[in-house]
Amino acid sequence: MTDFRIRRAGRRDLTGIVARWSELMAAHQALDPVLYATAEHAEGTYRAFVRRHFDKPDSVILVAVDAAGGGVLGYLVGGGGQRAPMFVVRRVGMIFDLAVQPDQRRAGIGRALVDRALEHFRERGMAYAQVNFDPHNPDAAGFWPRLGFETLLCEAYRPL
Ligand SMILES: CC(C)(COP(=O)(O)OP(=O)(O)OC[C@H]1O[C@@H](n2cnc3c(N)ncnc32)[C@H](O)[C@@H]1OP(=O)(O)O)[C@@H](O)C(=O)NCCC(=O)NCCS
Repeated sequence: MTDFRIRRAGRRDLTGIVARWSELMAAHQALDPVLYATAEHAEGTYRAFVRRHFDKPDSVILVAVDAAGGGVLGYLVGGGGQRAPMFVVRRVGMIFDLAVQPDQRRAGIGRALVDRALEHFRERGMAYAQVNFDPHNPDAAGFWPRLGFETLLCEAYRPL
């Protein structure tokens, strides 16, 4: 089991973050090759998406790294989200992406990243965190309920 530590990401981590994101996308493409098909330059687009979050005050970009030195074993990107103005609970902490390197899973890295992000959101006065996940993804479907997340809405698609 790799000894890991969680820290805030820096721009030097972007390549490792994108590598973990690509694994996450490959797993999703196996679930639905059409709706998860990525456009040309998707990795560059994702890199720019993460980069923008470095400058947003409510955002949080975390990496899990090998404590002995080494690359990004896992990462999380989160930020402030707004629910519709009719609701009392409006500002929520959004977890946009979370992924752990396949050979490092089930060793507490995902939980440690989420715990740190929840702390970040609490410090900013948010009372809820939200994540969107594919219920057909067995990792996500097993993981999020273990961390106390309860499903409220489902996103549904049909071809036209
Ligand atoms: C989901 C993911 C981030 C979990 O990371 P991880 O480091 O393996 O998770 P942890 O080891 O911290 O596990 C935390 C808890 O979730 C449970 N869990 C993790 N993966 C699970 C799975 N596939 N099925 C059932 N339970 C699971 C663990 O048993 C653990 O429970 P416990 O602490 O109560 O014993 C990882 O599997 C992953 O990167 N998957 C591919 C990408 C992905 O699906 N990301 C989520 C997209 S929204």
